[in-house]
Amino acid sequence: MSGYNLDVDKAQEFLPDDHYEKYVNKSIASAESVFNKTCDGNDFLGWLDLPSKTDLEIDATAKRLREMGEICVTVGIGGSYLGAEAVLQALADDTTGPEMLFAGTNLCAAGTIRLLDKIKDKDFTVIMISKSGTTLEPAIAFRLLWAELQNRYGDEAGQRVVAITDQESGALRKRADANNWHTFSIPQNVGGRFSVLSPVGLLPLAVAGIDIEKILRGADSMRSMCQEPNRDNPAICYAAIRNALYDSGFTTEILSTFHGDLRGVQEWWKQLYGESEGKQGKGIFPASAGFTTDLHSLGQYIQDGKRNLFETFLHIEHTGFLAVPSDETDPDGLEYLSGRTLDDINQKAYAGTRKAHHDGGVPTIELSVDELTPGSVGGLIFFFELACAISGVTLGVNPFDQPGVEAYKKEMFTLLKR
Ligand code: PA5
Repeated sequence: MSGYNLDVDKAQEFLPDDHYEKYVNKSIASAESVFNKTCDGNDFLGWLDLPSKTDLEIDATAKRLREMGEICVTVGIGGSYLGAEAVLQALADDTTGPEMLFAGTNLCAAGTIRLLDKIKDKDFTVIMISKSGTTLEPAIAFRLLWAELQNRYGDEAGQRVVAITDQESGALRKRADANNWHTFSIPQNVGGRFSVLSPVGLLPLAVAGIDIEKILRGADSMRSMCQEPNRDNPAICYAAIRNALYDSGFTTEILSTFHGDLRGVQEWWKQLYGESEGKQGKGIFPASAGFTTDLHSLGQYIQDGKRNLFETFLHIEHTGFLAVPSDETDPDGLEYLSGRTLDDINQKAYAGTRKAHHDGGVPTIELSVDELTPGSVGGLIFFFELACAISGVTLGVNPFDQPGVEAYKKEMFTLLKR
């Protein structure tokens, strides 16, 4: 995997003999069923083809939205926004467009009031994303934003809206068609959490100035690197080690990183794996930790708490150049670090933490990436999606449905007297 490296050796030390091998073989069979489209949920495998799709209309629409507003508000929840937010945070230095805000991600009044206040005196546009077109949180946020657009722009308001939704069905599709809003379709065979490489992720990213072509090329080259159903395929190895650990009692996976810009990737990963695998009384619980910050909070538990955790470190080799300045009076006792780069110190903190956690009984996996670029982020997205599909099939669940999320909606709508 050029530019990336997956290390599962340290984690294997916690497994009985041949356990990993057993799960490699199972994961190879799962990968075959994903590639030849015979797995459970095989009508939701459209994401496998997204890296090779280029949509020039996305660039043209993004250009128009960039010109129309200082702020663009992307409205959506779950898979309809987490991917775009993740990439924007990871590639913050590459953004050039209007400020991108996210709305409809919860029902908290305070944040929504702040957002409405922020757009009050600024030209803004709205990207409304909902595959079903009926999700409560984004629908409420959109009601508020649409009212503001109509107040401010009157008959021109509709030109500031782009709707991304199902090709045919749902309230948003009907409304968008009736109002003549610009629309993009979410392919029917692509579920929300696997949709970041479709217009769902690509349009907000393009508006924010990210080179989406490079994201897609990175995803495509990862797809080539992971296309063989064999034991050298890193997506198969990651799926295999996760399932082997789960089977040995390690039921929580922490995606840890020493790189703060990956916070959004951690959130996206948690949704991808949690919603795909947590069903039928089974599944690894996906958690995350941001180090060194969380070494001063969760670090205690990880080192010393209940031993049902394993940790996947998402490691970036190069993150920037900043050296510790010299102060010969040495008031803080840190002169021994003078001239050393933060990157170097962070790497040592990482190496020390990984060893300490391993020695404390936490199996550790490492996925390292040379540096964060549009290409490498695109590759990471595809890697995690493919590994998630293979892992879910290996676990014995349909990774592409989410029947459990309906339960809270049913109770909530009863209380709301819908
Ligand atoms: O992954 C999923 O399918 C979910 O997280 C959805 O993306 C989320 O519930 C939003 O659904 P919708 O796009 O229909 O509003």
